[in-house]
Amino acid sequence: MDQSRIRVAPSLLSADFADLAAEIEMVEAVGVDLLHVDVMDGHFVPNITFGPMIVDVIRRLAASQLDVHLMISEPARYLEKFIKAGSDYVTFHIEAISQAGPLIAEARKLGAMPGIALNPATELTGLDDVLAASDLVVMMTVNPGFGGQTFISEVVPKIRALYDLRAEKGWEFEIEVDGGVNIETAEVAAWAGGDILVAGAAVFKSPDPRQAVRDIERAGRRGLSKRADRTAFPLAPPA
Ligand code: DX5
Ligand code: ZN
Repeated sequence: MDQSRIRVAPSLLSADFADLAAEIEMVEAVGVDLLHVDVMDGHFVPNITFGPMIVDVIRRLAASQLDVHLMISEPARYLEKFIKAGSDYVTFHIEAISQAGPLIAEARKLGAMPGIALNPATELTGLDDVLAASDLVVMMTVNPGFGGQTFISEVVPKIRALYDLRAEKGWEFEIEVDGGVNIETAEVAAWAGGDILVAGAAVFKSPDPRQAVRDIERAGRRGLSKRADRTAFPLAPPA
């Protein structure tokens, strides 16, 4: 884990799938090396996106690592297919399963870097074993299902709590902030503890996606540089 830099992971959810190759090339041209891939099943979340077949297409179009975010009810059933399709990181929702440990172990055995995703309302308590075994922890700052939603800033204290817990326990996972990250919210997301900032609409719906990636990265670096100052942003949600 490289804690000295902020990585922006554009979310392909907001890309133009009619010209996915060009969309991927465009963001990779400004140094993107991680793409966020949102898999939705119409069951765990109200929206449907795509399955392993399209992940395989993305794999063939991209030079980047693929960060595959499974927003599906039965991750155990499909894990192997998504990994074989080319996931580098694969995360599933802790709310979707009763036992995360075996799934993390299976994903690792299949060659992926596994992790978990947490909805905005999901607490960190009781997750020590699974956190210790994860390579990536996705902190949702919107309720999953759709791109282009507003960043829920009430999650910021939880991101900082996870960041502190990671340091205290010596855990190794990367922290990813997913949902509503844009030029305005990237700074606080990185300050709180985000190593990876997912940005969908803020990149692909921008008139200048390349500049958007650079601006979000710059805002993230600004947040990172202020991280030691615990008062730079409010940690307690307003009463
Ligand atoms: C939300 C997805 C996010 C989404 C982020 O369900 O998990 O990854 O693509 O998109 P923006 O950045 O538009 O909120
Ligand atoms: Zn996502």
